[in-house]
Amino acid sequence: MLDRNGRVVDYLRISVTDKCNLRCRYCMPAEGVEEKGHNNILPFEQIYRIVKAGAQVGIRKVRLTGGEPLVRKNIVKLVEDIAGIEEIDDLSITTNGTLFARMAKDLKNAGLKRVNFSLDSLVDERLKYITRSTDLPDIRNAIDMAISLELHPVKLNVVVIKGFNDDEIMDFVALAYNNPIHVRFIEFMPIGDLSFYSADKTVATADIRRQIVCNYDITPGKGIIGYGPAQYYHLTGGQGSVGFISPISNHFCGQCNRIRMTADGRLRSCLYHNKEIDLKMALLNSDSNEQLTKLFVKAILSKPNRHEMQSGWGKDNYRKMVQIGG
Ligand code: 5AD
Ligand code: SF4
Repeated sequence: MLDRNGRVVDYLRISVTDKCNLRCRYCMPAEGVEEKGHNNILPFEQIYRIVKAGAQVGIRKVRLTGGEPLVRKNIVKLVEDIAGIEEIDDLSITTNGTLFARMAKDLKNAGLKRVNFSLDSLVDERLKYITRSTDLPDIRNAIDMAISLELHPVKLNVVVIKGFNDDEIMDFVALAYNNPIHVRFIEFMPIGDLSFYSADKTVATADIRRQIVCNYDITPGKGIIGYGPAQYYHLTGGQGSVGFISPISNHFCGQCNRIRMTADGRLRSCLYHNKEIDLKMALLNSDSNEQLTKLFVKAILSKPNRHEMQSGWGKDNYRKMVQIGG
């Protein structure tokens, strides 16, 4: 379905839980964030009904996020159910990778198409620092598993933070050169736990690109790898590619194709737009999907032209990133 700006909205990101087994510094304080009571988290049957309703208005791609989606009990079952919906032709997850290896085969068999890993450092102590716990070998193992199961394209999300990992950019590029991996460098945004954020920690995409082109021949990616806001470049002679997600230096809102659903069942038409549409009543009131479909239409038509990040995340936003689902 088209929104008021002529953008095709066919992608739904679903936060299946606001819980996470990590505490990345830019995302959450050490003690975590207040979790929704279990009763507020939508059961799988309701998520399934919502995706079915979304499919009626043109949703074709679904991504499961969190928090950390793999901490949700029986997540494989949800993957299987959504994969079974005929209209949905792409089903992916974004994960921190800690629980992935042990579930990978089951997820693949259930119909998962591909996976994005969040990984901000290739140095063990640094990864431990930023996540306050993760062991790097576990994540490397998870990534290898995803590659061997052909969950392509396997993507890595790297939030580039000045003074923390900006000296690792070329190591990540080498990883993409030597493996069939798409590394996406993300500009650090004022979102999440703002006590860790400061504007001078953001590294602009142009600076990252400049470093890369000194060492590699890159060409703009042809063909779509995923459907998001990243700009892709092939590394000539290499196996993988690199991409840039530039929420700060470049408004990509014109190409935005997505809406989001929070773990407690509210549609959000933009990460940065605080008006939410509650699906709970529609889920309780009736067995029919008609009302849900109407609410999807309403959400898509309320999509703002562009995000209002610069005007400040903190002010009237009562949700953390972990509650919206990246
Ligand atoms: N800035 C940039 N990226 C962020 N992410 C989480 N918080 C921020 C932030 N403040 C990333 C995660 C994950 C993706 C969904 O969003 O690392 O890879
Ligand atoms: Fe968990 Fe992702 Fe937040 Fe890290 S960034 S604490 S992995 S939800």
